[in-house]
Amino acid sequence: MSGLKCAIYRYGLTINRHAYCQLGTDYRRVFGCVNNHNLSKYNLQIYRTKHENASITPKLIDDREINSITQNGKPFRTFPNLSEGPDLKDFIKSDVTVDSTETEPVPYLKATCGNDRKVYFSVYGCQMNVSDTEIIWSILKKTGYQKTDTMTEADVILLVTCAIRDAAEQKIWHKLVHLKHYKKWRSLRSDKPPLKVGLLGCMAERLKHKLLETDKIVDVVAGPDSYKDLPRLLSLTEDNQTAINVILSYDETYADVTPVRINQDSVTAFVSIMRGCDNMCTYCIVPFTRGRERSRPIASILDEVSHLSDQGVKEVTLLGQNVNSYRDLSESKFATADKSDPKLAAGFKTVYKPKIGGLRFSDLLDKVSQINPEMRIRFTSPHPKDFPDEVLQLIAERPNICRNIHLPAQSGNSTVLERMRRGYTREAYISLVEHIREIIPDISLSSDFICGFCGETEEEFADTISLMQMVKYNMAYLFAYSMREKTTAHRRHEDNVDPKVKQDRLRRMITIYRTEVQKLNEAMIGRQYLVLVEKKSRKSEFNMQGRTSGNIKVIFPRGSIQDNRCTTKSRNIEAGDYVVVQIINANSQVLKGIPLYHSSITQYALSTGNHYERMAYNL
Ligand code: 5AD
Ligand code: SF4
Repeated sequence: MSGLKCAIYRYGLTINRHAYCQLGTDYRRVFGCVNNHNLSKYNLQIYRTKHENASITPKLIDDREINSITQNGKPFRTFPNLSEGPDLKDFIKSDVTVDSTETEPVPYLKATCGNDRKVYFSVYGCQMNVSDTEIIWSILKKTGYQKTDTMTEADVILLVTCAIRDAAEQKIWHKLVHLKHYKKWRSLRSDKPPLKVGLLGCMAERLKHKLLETDKIVDVVAGPDSYKDLPRLLSLTEDNQTAINVILSYDETYADVTPVRINQDSVTAFVSIMRGCDNMCTYCIVPFTRGRERSRPIASILDEVSHLSDQGVKEVTLLGQNVNSYRDLSESKFATADKSDPKLAAGFKTVYKPKIGGLRFSDLLDKVSQINPEMRIRFTSPHPKDFPDEVLQLIAERPNICRNIHLPAQSGNSTVLERMRRGYTREAYISLVEHIREIIPDISLSSDFICGFCGETEEEFADTISLMQMVKYNMAYLFAYSMREKTTAHRRHEDNVDPKVKQDRLRRMITIYRTEVQKLNEAMIGRQYLVLVEKKSRKSEFNMQGRTSGNIKVIFPRGSIQDNRCTTKSRNIEAGDYVVVQIINANSQVLKGIPLYHSSITQYALSTGNHYERMAYNL
């Protein structure tokens, strides 16, 4: 297909019949295959290249039809014997981009296997990217790649990227400059195959082909829904081609891929329960880079969590952009489970039609938390606009569901929240916080805030500061607004807050947050907490670090402590243990303590004598 890039976008069926593309009066075999019974399932897209100006009528024809086509009364046959016809590579110049969503093994490609090539991951951005990297690694491992933690050993470097703010993308551009030099240096070494660089994730989805145009550093571009296609995309690079797949899906949840953990020694793990987001907050690029919201079937989540529990993982964080709109409609029996229209609390609204039926987030949380009562469960992030009471009740009742809720406020001013299209007012958010604290008095809260959003005045910003002072967050992620193309804000609003003012407001938010969290942490001095031991402290090998159920970091000395509260026997503290720690010091970032004795979630819940005895484990 000289001068043309062809892509057959297919949805579903598996067949192995060749596709032809009619180009004016000529027919050419193109990349992919066709199901004769279901041609309507395919969209053939022909992209015109810079050099190709003739008008072309694309038409998809299969190899039965090609033999019946006549021209001037004679059979038109591009290739008398199709099996002897040219190969894909005969149509593709070595320097063109192949753009396809084909995910089946492709017989005429050299090999989609990794041949033990070593892959190095560089992961940026949110926890979702960490979870995605484990999916990517699982896919590549199955196709014969090896993983290396040393960049200089790698044959393939994959950057799993973030696009949420310009600063996140700038980091990746800097990395690409570094990789450009490294790639050149490496190409001079004859004993190694040429290094390939893949740019994956949100930035790939946002910038698409533009990434291939930059100095030939990037060989593969793959969006968040095309990771199953990576083995094929990478195999194309062996012939010095570049390859891209940035098609977003309505239903890809990677439910059939068992992620392989990148850090096998960690006692904590992330499990993705849904992908995409339908909220369309006006500032946010995520709905454009990660696509429509879809939930992963509950059975596949439960399988993964059970598997992690068997591997000794002690804490699982359920991940999604908006976990409380989780709905598993995958099985017909679930579709009838709850037909009631989810009612939003007063003061909350949503831009999309609430999902009806199926199993909800509270059903998932209920089931996940019963897999192993000694495994902690966290989740992030819920959206304040549809926070169900059932979830709060579960947190209150189950000692292994952690007592921390991430409740992203974004702003404390109702007019700004309206411009952000968050679906709630300041008052509704405050009522929700009060309601949560009535049901779970010792809950710790965390949040995200953006300052300097389009048109934010000094008075409006003051409301954000006052909300932070009023609610008192145990953790806050604070950002200066960064305008993103494609978002509603980009189309409708003006990014008119001076960058210096944004930075000044950011500093003020940080100061207020630190002052408030220091007070909260100091109030914990003298109390005892059950801490999950995570690893050795980064700063001192004589200390260990862990977290409370409220997700507050605790540092304490290593060593041997009582095996339980009522024994003189002692044993060493290891990662994965639950220990009771007495807090003796605190600053705005960490608590410091003395480890007292080993315990467990269930023992500790019983010994603290609170309402935990009523919970479902029949203790
Ligand atoms: N600029 C600054 N911060 C943003 N966030 C999302 N989009 C932007 C943006 N354009 C923040 C929000 C969100 C968090 C993940 O990132 O606070 O909750
Ligand atoms: Fe972005 Fe809003 Fe979706 Fe969060 S809920 S990912 S901020 S659009």
